[in-house]
Amino acid sequence: MEGKKFYPTKRYLEFQKNAIANLESFWEKEAEKIPWFKRWEKVLVWDEPFAKWFVGGMLNASYGCIDAHLHSWRKNKVAIYWEDEQGNTKSFSYVQLHREVNKLASVLKKIGVEKGDIVVLYLPMIPELVFSMLATVRIGAIHTVVFSGFSSQALADRINDTRAKVLITADFGIRRGKFVPLKDIVDNALKLTPSIKKVVLIKRTEKEVKIEEGRDLLYHELLKNAENYVEPEPVESTHPLYILYTSGTTGKPKGIVHSTGGYLVYNYATYKWVFDISDESIYWCTADVGWVTGHSAIVYAPLLHGATIVIYEGAPDFPYLDKWWEIIEKYGVTIFYTSPTALRMFIRYGEEWIKKHDLSSLKILGTVGEPINPEVWEWYYKNIGNERCPIVDTWWQTETGGMMISPSPGLELVPLKPGSATLPLPGIDAEVVDDTGNPVPPGTKGYLVIKKPWPGMLMGIYEDPDRYKETYWSKFKGMYYTADYAMKDEEGYFWLLGRADEILKVAGHRIGTAEIEGAVVATPFAAEAAVVGMADPIKGEAIVIFVILKQGYNPDDSLKKKIIDSIRTQIGPFATPQEIYFVEKLPKTRSGKIMRRILKAIVQDKPIGDVTTLEDEASVEEIKTAYEEFKKMIR
Ligand code: PRX
Repeated sequence: MEGKKFYPTKRYLEFQKNAIANLESFWEKEAEKIPWFKRWEKVLVWDEPFAKWFVGGMLNASYGCIDAHLHSWRKNKVAIYWEDEQGNTKSFSYVQLHREVNKLASVLKKIGVEKGDIVVLYLPMIPELVFSMLATVRIGAIHTVVFSGFSSQALADRINDTRAKVLITADFGIRRGKFVPLKDIVDNALKLTPSIKKVVLIKRTEKEVKIEEGRDLLYHELLKNAENYVEPEPVESTHPLYILYTSGTTGKPKGIVHSTGGYLVYNYATYKWVFDISDESIYWCTADVGWVTGHSAIVYAPLLHGATIVIYEGAPDFPYLDKWWEIIEKYGVTIFYTSPTALRMFIRYGEEWIKKHDLSSLKILGTVGEPINPEVWEWYYKNIGNERCPIVDTWWQTETGGMMISPSPGLELVPLKPGSATLPLPGIDAEVVDDTGNPVPPGTKGYLVIKKPWPGMLMGIYEDPDRYKETYWSKFKGMYYTADYAMKDEEGYFWLLGRADEILKVAGHRIGTAEIEGAVVATPFAAEAAVVGMADPIKGEAIVIFVILKQGYNPDDSLKKKIIDSIRTQIGPFATPQEIYFVEKLPKTRSGKIMRRILKAIVQDKPIGDVTTLEDEASVEEIKTAYEEFKKMIR
């Protein structure tokens, strides 16, 4: 594609110009496409930096995602296809989904969950996870899904931040054929969380788990006395739909609060534009529901559109390397949405696994979570899409609630460029700016900002308005700071260049360096730690840790193991580091800030650049030496 010019089409430019110029009427038209019980009085109340969308409007997410379809042909179509690693399957029509959600909603009411209460969900990728989300919001409660790869400590921290009374979990998750003891993890977490009074336990295996009388209630027992219908609770548009914790630059995760009305409108609109989704789509997003992608892309957007969703519980390459391609063929998946990390892994396995399957049902392919390198893009285009399917590289964040920069073939297919997320979606006023907030010239790296509110944006950080203002709205006046580096090229296309803050994307998972450092210094022997990301051919980024030991401790492998154990218990196995280096000193600025840029350059064997602000260059030498020694060791 080299040498070609790929300008945005005239139609896109006009559409976008009109959207930005008439923001409120633009979004109002989109809002009219989802079901409301009562129309809003005001499209937007912008009390910068707090946005309220569709104020006065009343709706219910569970009604929009399920009940609304029961009056049409969609009633008896499949809403959910579920499959696990062993090939066990379940499917639910919209009527059946309605039944399951209503029953659980009545159970939640009976055990005391009320409108506005927070329900914590710690569940594997089973259909009950979707039922639990929709049942919670049906009665006007708010869900907080905690990714089931998080440890008991991480789960406890999130529960304590919300002070939730009810938690829904399962006995086990199953991954790579292994049973993950979720209930045990929950039991450990609950020792630290006085607020939880009731646990609803989904038993999916015959294996024994501990039951605490009075607290733990069995899902299947509760359902026996459940009602078949619960009136969906009308909530105001700005009533929180969910809180989802995500990593920030301090050790304490941020509870991102999303609204009901704005969030649903935004996701309804953008899934039409980006994926051209309809009630005839068979839509498979491979993310875990524990992350924002799962919330928007597995549950709310596709179900609002009355599409069929595919849910797979398990590892991508287990029990055989073509499990995913088998699923696409088996269910006739039309839209496939995955991560660059997964694709990079499949590239390694070779194409013969793909060729075994007929993937001709596919229409649109998507990626999310991290930058996709052009080679991987080309591979995806050729081998999965057979050069027929546009690739939508969708840039967004937990905070944005939905996709922000992406091709939009459902609206107008602009020419694609491998490796570029292309252009902001209509109504999204994105810019790349320098340190002073002024736009940078084409081809120059800067910070990605959003200059106008959008309906999917976070309402705030749970119970922490100051942190919300400080994190997103203090760096540049009147602009939402994404903390991502980006560049616009001559044709106006956006290229995402990774995080500008101390957050890592490891296999697409978002992890704060401060969280990992906290887990390291929680060991009795670590005095100080610095974490950086190192480019990794599969995971995008891998975790590297530098540790200064307390007096009296000598570096050895047993300490490394203890550090890894501490990370696994404080955060979860997905935050396991790739390398740990013991050092005497860390390179710091005169004000005492660790110069991660230098650590990063060293681990990646790149030139260091300007070190003049360093307090003591010897420490750089030391780290270099440690690195060189390590390199020798692994050779
Ligand atoms: O750095 C960007 C990266 O993922 C970050 C947001 O992570 P999280 O809140 O976990 O949400 C991920 C899924 C929506 C962003 O700040 N990111 C996300 N999508 C892309 C991306 N980087 C490059 N290209 C993308 N398409």
